[in-house]
Amino acid sequence: MTGDPNAFHEFERAGWERASEHYSDAFASLTIRTVDALLDAAHVSPGTRLLDVATGPGLVAAAAAARGATVVGLDFSRAMIAEARRRHPSIVFRDGDAQALPFDADSFDAVVMNFALLHLARPEAAVAEAHRVLRRRGRYALTVWAGPEQAVGFGMVLEAVKAHGNPNVPLPEGPPFFRFSAAEEFEKVLSRAGFSEIEVRTLPLRWRLGSADAVFEAVSRGGVRTAALLRAQTPEALAAIRAAVRRGVEAYAKGDAFLVPMPAVLASATRPPLT
Ligand SMILES: C[S@@+](CC[C@H](N)C(=O)[O-])C[C@H]1O[C@@H](n2cnc3c(N)ncnc32)[C@H](O)[C@@H]1O
Repeated sequence: MTGDPNAFHEFERAGWERASEHYSDAFASLTIRTVDALLDAAHVSPGTRLLDVATGPGLVAAAAAARGATVVGLDFSRAMIAEARRRHPSIVFRDGDAQALPFDADSFDAVVMNFALLHLARPEAAVAEAHRVLRRRGRYALTVWAGPEQAVGFGMVLEAVKAHGNPNVPLPEGPPFFRFSAAEEFEKVLSRAGFSEIEVRTLPLRWRLGSADAVFEAVSRGGVRTAALLRAQTPEALAAIRAAVRRGVEAYAKGDAFLVPMPAVLASATRPPLT
C-alpha cells in the first residue's frame, strides 16, 4: 500500500459512523448468512470466551451468545457500538481498534471477524493482535468477500463505474479491497503471524433482494469505500451507473425476487501450542 494508513483509517472510521444507520438494512441480511460457518470454524460452544472484532450491529456476537459463549464485541465506530448495545443489551460491547486490541495476551478461546479485514488500513496488525489475545490452541476465523467476478453485487457496481463514470477519483488509498479473496494471500498472512492449521474455503452465498435497485442502494448507503467512489461521481454519471447496476441485478430475477451471487471466503486457523 502506498497511501497514508492513518488517513485511510480515519476515512474508514468516518465512513462507518455515517453508514451505521443504514448498514443493517443494507447488508445484515447477507452478512448474517456466514455466521454459523464462522462460529463453527472458531469452535464456538457453551463457555467459549469469544471476541467478535468489528462487530458492527452485533450479529455474530448475538449468535455466539445464543450458543452459550461468553462474548465481547468490539468496534471502532461509536455509532455501531451504540446500535449493537441497543439491539443486544445483555452482551458486552467495547469501543476499540482491531489493529490495537484493548485486551491482555491469552484472553480468549476464539476470535472472529466477519467482513472487516478488507476495511483495515493494516490487516497484518489485526491478524497479529488476534494471535496475541488468543490462548494457545485458540481458534481464529474470519470472512471477506470473494473477488468481484464471483461476488457480482460488487463486481457490477465497479464495472458500471468504469463504463459510465470515473473509477480514479481521489480517495484515501487503502489496501486492495479484494486482496484476501485469494486463498494464497490469506494463508500467507495467517502463517506469517504464527497461525497453524490454516484452512480457506468459499461459502456460496446469494443475496436475496426485493428490488433491482437494492444493490445500488446498499452499496451507496451501507458501505464506505464504494459509497465514497459513488458520491464522487457527477450526477449524470451516477444516474447512468445506477441504471447499469439495476440492469445487472435484473439479470438475476427469480420469481418476485433477485438472487445475486455473493460468495464469501472463510479462513480459519489455530494459535499453535508451545512446542
Ligand atoms: C462490513 S461491517 C461488518 C460488521 C459485522 N461484523 C457483520 O458481520 O455484519 C465492518 C465493521 O468493521 C468495523 N471496523 C472497520 N475497521 C475497524 C477497525 N480498525 N477496528 C474496529 N472496527 C472496525 C466497522 O465500524 C464496521 O462495523
